[in-house]
Amino acid sequence: MSSAIASIRLLGLSGSLRRASHCTAILRTLAVTLSDRARLDLFDLAAIPLYNQDLDADGGPDSVRTLKAAIAAADGVVLVSPEFNYGMSGVLKNALDWASRPAYTSVFKNKPSLVITASPAFTGGVRAQAQIIETLVAMLAHVVATPQVVVAAVHEKVAEGRLVDDAALRFALGAVDALLRDIALRKLAALRSSEHDTGGAFVP
Ligand SMILES: Cc1cc2nc3c(=O)[nH]c(=O)nc-3n(C[C@H](O)[C@H](O)[C@H](O)COP(=O)(O)O)c2cc1C
Repeated sequence: MSSAIASIRLLGLSGSLRRASHCTAILRTLAVTLSDRARLDLFDLAAIPLYNQDLDADGGPDSVRTLKAAIAAADGVVLVSPEFNYGMSGVLKNALDWASRPAYTSVFKNKPSLVITASPAFTGGVRAQAQIIETLVAMLAHVVATPQVVVAAVHEKVAEGRLVDDAALRFALGAVDALLRDIALRKLAALRSSEHDTGGAFVP
């Protein structure tokens, strides 16, 4: 199990483009904290254009193709989003709409995915979280089952670009552990099935 975990690569998507974003700070903190167990790379969604089906041919514009390739190469995706007007950020929804194509066979199909939301409110973006999960389900992503991680009062828990609240960090790491376990089990299952693959030859 440990070597399966050691080679895990995660992709982090922040729903906020703000330079001092709390969501991006949470992702950065997870990346540092996890570094001995998995690699978590952040993908900046700033270059993703507004979704336009006219441009959605041959994988879409270059920036979208880069995003899709990054998702495809990752073992799992960690999405951290603020709540805007009771929903996920437009930045994240737009990126997910691009990444969702081709429908039902996209790079998100079966992709282990973990959703975290954060907000200054006591609700911690829980309404946005439900929406993100619903969108991921529509894309046939594999949303990891774990207690919902919402970071309430996030403005009091982030300082100098890091999540500094121990309880919130531990809770988020518990969910990331569930994601890593899920990925490790999938890797082991894939390894076992390749070991048993006889290439179609009959093995008595
Ligand atoms: C346009 C707008 C709408 C917002 N709506 C909500 C909301 O419905 N619920 C909520 O909890 N916070 C809401 N907020 C607060 C954001 O969740 C908060 O600013 C958050 O920290 C932004 O994420 P970031 O720090 O990663 O940029 C809203 C903020 C903006 C700018």
